[in-house]
Amino acid sequence: MKNNLTESPSWKLLENHFQGIKNTSLRTLFSGDDTRGSSLSLEKEGIFFDYSKHRVVRETLDLLFQLARERGLHDKIEAMFTGAKINITEKRAVLHTALRAPKGSVIMADGVNVVPLVHEVLERMAGFAATIRQGEWKGFTGKTIRNIVNIGIGGSDLGPVMAFEALKFYVQQDMTFRFVSNIDGNDFSEAVKELHPEETLFIVSSKTFTTLETMTNARTARKWLLDELVDEAAVARHFVAVSTNAKEVSAFGIDPRNMFGFWDWVGGRYSMDSAIGLSTMIAIGPEHFYAMLDGFHRMDDHFRTAPFNENIPVIMALLGIWYIDFFGAQTQAVLPYDNYLKRFPAYLQQLTMESNGKHVTLDGVTTDYQTGSVYWGEPGTNGQHSFYQMIHQGTLLIPCDFIGFRTSLNPLPLHQDYLVANMIAQGEALAFGKTAAEVRKEGVPEELVPHKVFEGNRPSSTFFMEKLTPANLGKLVAMYEHAVYVQGVIWGVNPFDQMGVELGKVLSMKIIPELQDKQRPINHDSSTNNLIRYYRD
Ligand code: F6P
Repeated sequence: MKNNLTESPSWKLLENHFQGIKNTSLRTLFSGDDTRGSSLSLEKEGIFFDYSKHRVVRETLDLLFQLARERGLHDKIEAMFTGAKINITEKRAVLHTALRAPKGSVIMADGVNVVPLVHEVLERMAGFAATIRQGEWKGFTGKTIRNIVNIGIGGSDLGPVMAFEALKFYVQQDMTFRFVSNIDGNDFSEAVKELHPEETLFIVSSKTFTTLETMTNARTARKWLLDELVDEAAVARHFVAVSTNAKEVSAFGIDPRNMFGFWDWVGGRYSMDSAIGLSTMIAIGPEHFYAMLDGFHRMDDHFRTAPFNENIPVIMALLGIWYIDFFGAQTQAVLPYDNYLKRFPAYLQQLTMESNGKHVTLDGVTTDYQTGSVYWGEPGTNGQHSFYQMIHQGTLLIPCDFIGFRTSLNPLPLHQDYLVANMIAQGEALAFGKTAAEVRKEGVPEELVPHKVFEGNRPSSTFFMEKLTPANLGKLVAMYEHAVYVQGVIWGVNPFDQMGVELGKVLSMKIIPELQDKQRPINHDSSTNNLIRYYRD
């Protein structure tokens, strides 16, 4: 069966259009249009989005919007917001937007208004967070809990860690927060170093409560606690769970009254604003957490209601398609010019790559086009002294997202001006480069001229906001969430399952006993057998 994307009228038009524009430089585009900077930028929900440094003209964007219409994007957005079972492989609705819907809204899933359920959990979380923050939650021996350790992996870790780092400025100072995800024992051991069990609370975060890494770390945590406190009854004061699986939570020994639930319509990588955000709420306080939810919600509203040509997630997603499927770009750099966002690229890796890293469409057809992109990045200016060389002068085309803020949370003299100047300069240098004539004019010796030329024509978006607040973080995350969905719709894949992670998990369960029992016969390929023998010997 042929997939219909590349056969669609707008795709064909885009292919033709690409041939005409692919060699046009940003220098030419800007010099031919003085208004380009303002006509290809917009400000919505406090995000100034400059997309003028992209290799597009108005016609490109119009064709991309036409493509989106042909793919039924408008209806697909509505389907998501109204609880249709768009995650068809798992027969589930996709309602992370309900997690931040204001009290009183109505969003139905399977005939139930889920908004009151969301707020009930949020209120329990807020009550619990307040108890902990005020030092009222006592450990088994009566000591105040001062250390929070979140145990989780993937969506049950990356969101909480990213948000904790991003919002560190707002974190209650007299508490310690640690995050354990890896099954590597080094992770747990380092996380609990210097922590005292009597003052430590573990949040076991797992949608399924069956994930090998999380359950292994949780059992190790229980042993670490009981080695000191001995009495099993201590577990109830030192463990809470965040999960959709009440049965497994109580089988683990956690009092169901200490469980914060969420629902199967929240995907792991879309869950940082559900109860999975419990550690975030304890860290920054309920008020800031609610402000973050409000930011998410404002971006949801923008995405749902703005016309495509004023819709930030839609435009950024379509630009991504333009580079991935027409220019053949394979990666997307995310470059936050705010050190607090240092884990943001890692967070986006799961969000984008676990969502759209699929080569089969919803109809089960293998795509004849590229889907997904490798997301990566580091905060500026650190990246500038590392991999930016390749973005400027390498042979790969690497579209960049610059993310910056006007006001620093820690306004030290000079720093912010220098930081922002660097961000703006990078976009300018990437777009316009430096010609051989310009290099020569500087008196550079002829043999060095080719080395000092910057081709330019390297595209970037800039997202500029006032300040890194909880609300603005919510907007940023929702913006990427929705861009991922738009791309999934265009490519016709399911951004909400993750079947590709299963095979490795299954094989590891077979290999575990083979490593533990040296006599056990092994029957893999010759490479895998060798690796198992090397470990056993
Ligand atoms: O292995 C992938 C995955 O299923 C992710 O999608 C998910 O975020 C992570 O594992 C953790 O799952 P859980 O929250 O069920 O422990």
